[in-house]
Amino acid sequence: MSKRVLITGATSGIGKSLAELYAGRGHSVYACGRNQEKLNELAQHGGIEALQFDQLNTSEVKSVLANLDPIDIAILNAGDCEYIDDALNFDADLFKRVIDINLTSVGSLLQQILPQLNRETDTAQLVLVGSSASMVPFTRAQAYGASKAGIAYLADSLYIDLQPHNIDVSLVLPGFIKTPLTDKNDFSMPFLMTSDEAAERIYQGIEKRQRHIAFPKRLIWSLRVAKCLPAKWWRKIMLNSDQN
Ligand SMILES: NC(=O)c1ccc[n+]([C@@H]2O[C@H](COP(=O)([O-])OP(=O)(O)OC[C@H]3O[C@@H](n4cnc5c(N)ncnc54)[C@H](OP(=O)(O)O)[C@@H]3O)[C@@H](O)[C@H]2O)c1
Repeated sequence: MSKRVLITGATSGIGKSLAELYAGRGHSVYACGRNQEKLNELAQHGGIEALQFDQLNTSEVKSVLANLDPIDIAILNAGDCEYIDDALNFDADLFKRVIDINLTSVGSLLQQILPQLNRETDTAQLVLVGSSASMVPFTRAQAYGASKAGIAYLADSLYIDLQPHNIDVSLVLPGFIKTPLTDKNDFSMPFLMTSDEAAERIYQGIEKRQRHIAFPKRLIWSLRVAKCLPAKWWRKIMLNSDQN
């Protein structure tokens, strides 16, 4: 059955692959982003309608997302990553930028989108994209990790409160995916996947209504083991990895 899927951050990386995958499988897609040129390219695909707004701008979010057709699946994926290179001279502006885009702006999206989820015919789905980075503390990731830990909590708590309203909530925890976001990384990224592979995993997880869609499994299991290590050991590993 064809569904209407809203995807934020659809102009690049994981979101773009998801938009193309859903449209390619016969679903109607609302593709959201800021970059008008990339949105125009996306809208060339049959089944994709582009919605342009900066999700940090609440009035734009409100006006562009008003009165959409009922949405079956909302995938809140847009985000950014910046690292704190010098924890001692903490960069509060950077911290705010990352928390604003990855976490705070999701609040405006939820306010606008939740009332427009289609709860008539089937259980609607809300999907939040977090990160496996929030599973353990990584060096320099204070801002990004905190924002994604916030998303994880938000998703798990919404999972409880939205179920009685016929809305399923899933949290996506990707490992390293090759996108413009990770192209900036200056460290090795184990088990790196393409955004098309990631989109397929996310699609399958959404189909199965998984509460947590975490991949690749080898990385997720390594992080689960790392989480059990004494904090002092993990700190040593992180500090050594940063010097290599
Ligand atoms: N890549 C990874 O390894 C990885 C791993 C774990 C989690 N994630 C998460 O997956 C999500 C997608 O990441 P990605 O790697 O695909 O990144 P990406 O290629 O850099 O794409 C980011 C998307 O977010 C949109 N965006 C950024 N700021 C925005 C704003 N203020 N308003 C509206 N849209 C905005 C961008 O739109 P415009 O270009 O139009 O501005 C773009 O479409 C993020 O939440 C990221 O944290 C990624």
